[in-house]
Amino acid sequence: MKCLRQFALAALFVSPALLAAAPSIDDRSAFIADLLGRMTLEEKVGQLRLISIGGDMPRERIVEEMAAGRIGATFNSVVRPDNRPMQEAALRSRLGIPVFFAYDIIHGHRTTFPIGLGLASSWDIEAIENSARIAALEASADGLDMTFAPTVDISRDPRWGRTSEGFGEDPYLVSRIAAAMVRGFQGKDPSDPQRIMASVKHFALYGAVEGGRDYNVVDMSPLRMYQDYLPPYRAAIDAGAGGVMVALNAVNGVPASANKWLLDDLLRRQWGFKGVVLSDHGAITELLRHGVAADGREAARLAISAGVGMSMADTLYDQELPALVRSGAVAQSVLDEAVTHVLNTKYDLGLFHDPFRRIGRAEDDPADVNAESRLHRADARAMARDSLVLLENRGDTLPLRKNATVALIGPLADSQVDMLGSWSAVGVAEQAVTLRQGMEAALAGQGKLLHAVGANVTDDARVIDYLNQLNWDRPEVVPDKRTPQAMLDEAVALAAQADVIVAAVGEARGMSHESSSRTRLDLPDSQQALLRALKATGKPLVLVLMNGRPLALGWEKDNADAILETWYSGIEGGHAIADVLFGEHNPSGKLPISFPRSVGQIPTYYNHLRLGRPYTPGTPGNYTSQYFEEATGPLYPFGYGLSYSDFQLSAPKLSAERMHPDQRIRVSVTLKNAGPRPGATVVQLYLHDEAASVIRPEKELKAFRRVKLEAGEARELSFEIDESMLRFFDASLQHVSEPGAFRVQLGLDSQAVQEARFELLPRP
Ligand code: BGC
Repeated sequence: MKCLRQFALAALFVSPALLAAAPSIDDRSAFIADLLGRMTLEEKVGQLRLISIGGDMPRERIVEEMAAGRIGATFNSVVRPDNRPMQEAALRSRLGIPVFFAYDIIHGHRTTFPIGLGLASSWDIEAIENSARIAALEASADGLDMTFAPTVDISRDPRWGRTSEGFGEDPYLVSRIAAAMVRGFQGKDPSDPQRIMASVKHFALYGAVEGGRDYNVVDMSPLRMYQDYLPPYRAAIDAGAGGVMVALNAVNGVPASANKWLLDDLLRRQWGFKGVVLSDHGAITELLRHGVAADGREAARLAISAGVGMSMADTLYDQELPALVRSGAVAQSVLDEAVTHVLNTKYDLGLFHDPFRRIGRAEDDPADVNAESRLHRADARAMARDSLVLLENRGDTLPLRKNATVALIGPLADSQVDMLGSWSAVGVAEQAVTLRQGMEAALAGQGKLLHAVGANVTDDARVIDYLNQLNWDRPEVVPDKRTPQAMLDEAVALAAQADVIVAAVGEARGMSHESSSRTRLDLPDSQQALLRALKATGKPLVLVLMNGRPLALGWEKDNADAILETWYSGIEGGHAIADVLFGEHNPSGKLPISFPRSVGQIPTYYNHLRLGRPYTPGTPGNYTSQYFEEATGPLYPFGYGLSYSDFQLSAPKLSAERMHPDQRIRVSVTLKNAGPRPGATVVQLYLHDEAASVIRPEKELKAFRRVKLEAGEARELSFEIDESMLRFFDASLQHVSEPGAFRVQLGLDSQAVQEARFELLPRP
């Protein structure tokens, strides 16, 4: 049946030129080899060009180039009527090789889901996979074939603006999410017309840029790389990601885009990656600025020789490769291999069988691409609710009563564009529900909502100028023209009439974006002044934070009655946050990244290596590792998050105290919801290796389970520990376990844990 359908489709759409001499289209390697054999050098080089729509080249020119078979793929063209003529042009080319259409679909396409950190805060792998599935459904319906996602760069430095885009600091959690995103985008097979191909990025180590300053160098020991930073890319590849995007940074002295060890030895040979490798935007030309290539010819040679297949928004392959290959400076086989990967990708996307499988027929194009009916609001609301992290709740300030008078104050209370967060694809700000709208809907007919802006996101003109020149099509931040004092006075007067204050504060979305690195992690001064004035009213103060990175919240922790971290929660964020504020939904989010007390404390990640002189509180003459003028440890640890319920976890019990490498130990705990309402929490299992041949971390997350319990319900949970969970990279980078004692720690965050001890016995 499938063959017949494919034959029918092929007969309908595939250009006669393509079918003429080709072997059976169902035999990928023979089909692609035959095609490659019929391509000219220029046509081959054309396949390596990934062109930005809306970039330097006018669209008419792009169509001409496609008809000449000189473009392999595009990105940033996002609707079917735009993509169709391009595909038609490609099919008119001599060999009729289809193009593919890519785009940055990071946290939703038309329906904007919470940003990466928000998705990760849910620890709900199925829901995250579902968000990627919906993004793929919507993107494929717009004629798109590939996303430049997931972003799985481990981030331990919140100064880095792209922390927002990834899934936090932990190799295990990020790896689980990386695989889930790939499954969600691609389904069982990326040729499915309702799925798209995933291109995991940014390979590699982009999140470790020195000082958190974007595009800065990365210099890292192989041990740390293998142990902590590489696993998420590997997990995405093992889950079948069809593409890999190369990072803009250097890795140990060699830019990733020219790094043969990274792209060839590690990715292709050690990991066996068979898909397509894409450069990042303009990265081949940047090899000149990195100073590893003296001219464009050398840059192109270095990139292709290292293993960069397609060049994104970069002219050097086009200009230099033909001569490089003719002169023998780049072997024909190197070019052929790169082209084969691109053709295989198109094949795997199903485009040789039906180049219009996602573009569809013109008569079926949606009349309005932004129609409400195309959105998945219920899924977005459910995902957003579970992405919210309750950081404080003194005296059960939350949930709020619905018959209360609430003063909603703050620059982010009613800002639609900021609900979306950065990299919001084709998300439309006007379709986003703000907190003000969400609370108004929740209170309808009952309590009263008062609203004032209170302060601008920032009064720093330099920052406002920076945000407004970021690449968006309209100003990001439009400051209120009134004086800061006039805005404060209005807010304080309003607060005086209310039972409780909800302050929506944080960062404008552009502050947590590509290139938006920060030196400070506290709230901007204008908002700090607002919070101090609100605190002085003596009314209960609830903070709703919107931000794309951990912030330093010392004053806020001490002074707010409740704090809800909402990240940028997407198109349904306002409803979701209101659901939690008014108790319609019990919060269950857990931090996927530690919150530092101050910038000076960075990095604060939980799974740091052990020390000879660890900080020991209370030791006189304290020659231990600490900053003496500030408390040690994070303000909020990895894995932390409160609930309206009171979850209690028993001490772990082990099925045995010793295990042979081929055995397992079962760890059992009882989780009880001792609170008055149903809720969910995440039981986290960490391992600590007491002694090994290389220094091992304090603890490492190795398993977790998100559990929903009714009020009063108790459930026994069990986890299995096997030898593979005890492995690590040793000094010769072998992934091994070593016999000896381990501690297993269970908790509802990474710090408050209870532990038990067991021993791994040597192999007989
Ligand atoms: C970013 C990538 C992105 C690309 C295309 C680059 O600036 O680093 O993450 O996929 O642009 O938009």
